[in-house]
Amino acid sequence: MTGKLYGVGVGPGDPELMTLKAVKVLKRVSVLCAPDSGRESRALDVVRRAVKREFRLLRPHFPMTKRREVLEKAWQRASEAIYRELRKGEDVAFVTIGDPTFYSTFTYVMERIKSAHPEVEIEVVPGVTSVTACAANLGIPLVSGGESLAVVPAAYGTDNLELLARNFDTVVLMKVSRSFDSILERLRQTGLDERAVFAAKCGTPAFTSGEPQSFRGRKVDYLSMILLRRLRG
Ligand SMILES: C[S@@+](CC[C@H](N)C(=O)[O-])C[C@H]1O[C@@H](n2cnc3c(N)ncnc32)[C@H](O)[C@@H]1O
Repeated sequence: MTGKLYGVGVGPGDPELMTLKAVKVLKRVSVLCAPDSGRESRALDVVRRAVKREFRLLRPHFPMTKRREVLEKAWQRASEAIYRELRKGEDVAFVTIGDPTFYSTFTYVMERIKSAHPEVEIEVVPGVTSVTACAANLGIPLVSGGESLAVVPAAYGTDNLELLARNFDTVVLMKVSRSFDSILERLRQTGLDERAVFAAKCGTPAFTSGEPQSFRGRKVDYLSMILLRRLRG
């Protein structure tokens, strides 16, 4: 019988923020899939701290590029490698930081396996996302009452930032680390500075936050975001 594929969200980085269900699945599966993007896998690190056992590891390479044709090939290769395990009857857990449906490579792999092998059973185990962990650490509401939220993957550009900031009560800028200084420049030019808070390693003991401009010129961690809240009063 074909094995089952799990997409497991391991939360923002602190093993204590993993769900009981995530831990239960990770104690059972025989194969663990953690993408290799040329840096240490944060998701794998969380798993190792939470679940003390050996896994057979699959580390498909996902290059840090936006070139669609390169990514398509990587997703296809990863899906095939995972399917080879599933076909042997092995259950596979694809682990992802935060939640698997929220900017995770898991969704590309899931879609490919679904269409090529519809017989494969797939279960997504949701995780605490970095966005709610960020609001929790800052001690602020992310959104409340009739408020609305926009999420911007800033690595793909921030051209519509002013428009979003006008129309949404809270705007979260994710994937900020690689173009951090140009994002800061945009916040300054658009006068959005006073609404902005920088937060890194949310949901972990190493959480830090502050005014974004005070981090100018510094190398910020990949696990960083900027939150813009509508000012009241
Ligand atoms: C590919 S997305 C993954 C999002 C993840 N699936 C989630 O549910 O939060 C990576 C981006 O998420 C944000 N991120 C993830 N974990 C974070 C953390 N612990 N603290 C701050 N930002 C984090 C950063 O903006 C990072 O560049």
